[in-house]
Amino acid sequence: MNKGVQKIYAEAAYTYEMINHLLTFWLDILWRRKTSQIALRIGGIKWLDVCSGTGEMATNLREVSNSKTVVTSADFSLPMLRIGKSKPTSDGIHFTLADAGALPFADDSFDLITISYATRNLNPNRAKMIEYLKEFHRILRPGGTFINLETSQPDSLMIRNLYHLYVRMAVRRIGQFISGSKTGYNYLSYTVPRFYNPFEFANVLKEAGFSDVRLKRMLFGAFAIHQAKA
Ligand SMILES: C[S@@+](CC[C@H](N)C(=O)[O-])C[C@H]1O[C@@H](n2cnc3c(N)ncnc32)[C@H](O)[C@@H]1O
Repeated sequence: MNKGVQKIYAEAAYTYEMINHLLTFWLDILWRRKTSQIALRIGGIKWLDVCSGTGEMATNLREVSNSKTVVTSADFSLPMLRIGKSKPTSDGIHFTLADAGALPFADDSFDLITISYATRNLNPNRAKMIEYLKEFHRILRPGGTFINLETSQPDSLMIRNLYHLYVRMAVRRIGQFISGSKTGYNYLSYTVPRFYNPFEFANVLKEAGFSDVRLKRMLFGAFAIHQAKA
């Protein structure tokens, strides 16, 4: 478990959603919805949103799913989960305090797993990232789907540089100013430019045992949704 990351989200929990919406010009909401629409098309009855934070993705999943679907939201930050649980929209979502590296679920438990804006946080080391992805693979039933919504890297060098500049200057400063968490938004602005380009991330997924990897890119490639089968 990464205690440093856990501390960052404990500090940033109360302003997290507002800052996220502001810094992405509310597009984070749109792309969670897009992700939940993919989940709806795939179906299944046991869905997990991992690194669920304040439960925004889990809420989207709950909204699109039918009454038979069981939606679980797991995160290792109690302050983030508490906010999620306290929302009126959290009815019917099962909240679980859990580290993504050692999830308290049996093999083949889920039909579908989502993760939004969090893979970057798991581990910068490729081998360790693969261990986390293998953990998701373990709890997905064979043929189950993993959906990853995350920041990504635009192909155009000019757009990529502008994007990284925006993250280093605006995201870091505005995030620090509103949240009061210097470490949190330093960390965020550090991880975004260093995360995999979408094709490398597809390879990482394959190395973790996933197949049939599909990719959707948004906003000139600054964000991406990867979909893969266990
Ligand atoms: C940027 S937030 C994303 C929250 C949410 N998924 C969303 O769409 O807004 C990252 C979340 O990942 C969680 N997280 C990071 N590493 C984790 C780990 N190893 N196990 C469980 N949760 C983790 C943090 O506590 C935080 O709530």
